[in-house]
Amino acid sequence: MRIYLDHNATTPLREEVAEAMARALRDLPGNPSSAHAEGARARAALERAREQVAALVGARPAEVVFTSGATEANHLALYGVARAEGARGGALVASAVEHPSVAEPLAALADEGHPLTLVPVDEEGRLDLAALDAALAARPLLCACIWAQNETGVLSPVAAVAERCREHGVPLLVDATQALGRLPVRLDRVPVDLLAGSAHKLNGPKGVGFLVVRGGRALAPWLRGGPQERGRRAGTPNLPGIVGLGVAAELAAAEMPARAAEQAALRDRLWEGIAAKVPGVRRTGAGADVLPNTLNVTFAGVAADLLVAALDGEGVAVSAGAACASGAAQPSPALLAMGRSPDEARSAVRFSVGLGNDAAQIDALLALLPDLVARVRAACAAGA
Ligand SMILES: Cc1ncc(COP(=O)(O)O)c(C=O)c1O
Repeated sequence: MRIYLDHNATTPLREEVAEAMARALRDLPGNPSSAHAEGARARAALERAREQVAALVGARPAEVVFTSGATEANHLALYGVARAEGARGGALVASAVEHPSVAEPLAALADEGHPLTLVPVDEEGRLDLAALDAALAARPLLCACIWAQNETGVLSPVAAVAERCREHGVPLLVDATQALGRLPVRLDRVPVDLLAGSAHKLNGPKGVGFLVVRGGRALAPWLRGGPQERGRRAGTPNLPGIVGLGVAAELAAAEMPARAAEQAALRDRLWEGIAAKVPGVRRTGAGADVLPNTLNVTFAGVAADLLVAALDGEGVAVSAGAACASGAAQPSPALLAMGRSPDEARSAVRFSVGLGNDAAQIDALLALLPDLVARVRAACAAGA
């Protein structure tokens, strides 16, 4: 029996979602852009999913643009703003702990002549709001702020950031990929201009996501060549994937508060066990607000990738840093931004719980972990 504790990398598909997707694959052969009855049925399914996603985030359906995932949604937002008319050479602002799908396009735009200011975080991962104020005073084209950091789970003060952006008239992009389904993300309460999300972190399918574009904001399209998505995103939409996203969004909206409480209880059980049984550990973001499902722990003197491999051998899936970076033994940029040394950053393991986990699994992990950590620590000390 495997114990999957890597829900920030991706989540298992829910049965209800798989069934809805299978029905869409089988029963909806039409192109949603076509004028005939097959097209109309496909279009109705697409629009139903748009309503379900809009309801999850408190937006209007017409504001939801379907994409191939959050990476594409972030590109559409960033390039869409930077390539809009009159934006040439305009400044950009972002937190220092953005996901690479925001950080790397921003770095590319900086190379093209858009001055970029990164707003620092403190040692708990909390955003420096005074530095944000200073950066916003220069009236940048856009501010990007991740809602919940994917590696540490630390939350940004999105309401405070949104308020400041509004005061300065600066549009705000929030990557809410890790927050959706785990926290209330309500654009009717927090004035975010652009919001990115992904189905596969919500127990939906991989390869589909969305960008919410509030209030008809003009964005240069990232993908050109067709009128789909009101001209914002060309290409025949991934209808089965989008239907799956819609069902996943609806289930997440209905179940979120209960699920978040269950996950927080499992996460806390795990941390209490680790703190009691394993010496030399430090919880990342201990003084910050953190996602209910995420526990990031530094094991002093332990190479995290070796511990991850040892746990995998025992049937437990966790990760060292972000999934896409795992295996590379690169220190996590998010932990470096929090002032950790490269060695400390390479000793951090992320445990992320979700659907399918229970207390017995956490206890099984806690029974294994002290010995595995001791073994990996001894091997690292011998090799050092
Ligand atoms: C915060 C965040 N943003 C964006 C992404 C990318 O999402 P996708 O895999 O849908 O492109 C991820 C996934 O790891 C993420 O955690």
